[in-house]
Amino acid sequence: MKWPIRTLSILGLIGALIVGYHWASCPRTPEALFKARCSACHELRTERLCEFPATQRPTIVDTMRRLHEAAEVIDEEEAVIIRRYLEESLVCH
Ligand code: HEC
Repeated sequence: MKWPIRTLSILGLIGALIVGYHWASCPRTPEALFKARCSACHELRTERLCEFPATQRPTIVDTMRRLHEAAEVIDEEEAVIIRRYLEESLVCH
């Protein structure tokens, strides 16, 4: 079957939109990942996190995953990125 060129361009355009939308909605920086994943169940608790010494903040990610079912929202790869972000880059006021 031969597809008319117009149909093909429209399909191509829709495909590009879907890929573009997916690309734009994926958190790409560690901060964006933290904000997206750690606000899935409760508000972002930056103030509470800042009460912990930086070296202990990464363990909170593990606690969330082990005790509060956050492993369903945050996979191991993402957990590594968020742990490092909380320890090294979290900005506390
Ligand atoms: C799957 C749901 C879920 C996700 C995702 C999640 N949490 Fe939680 N979190 C909970 C639950 C449940 C509690 C305990 C009840 C409460 O305090 O609301 C909690 C409590 C907390 C507390 C309070 C602990 C305390 O001692 O006061 C902090 C801080 C926290 N979460 C940080 C995080 C961070 C950081 C992330 C991202 C790595 C995260 N949470 C992701 C469910 C989640």
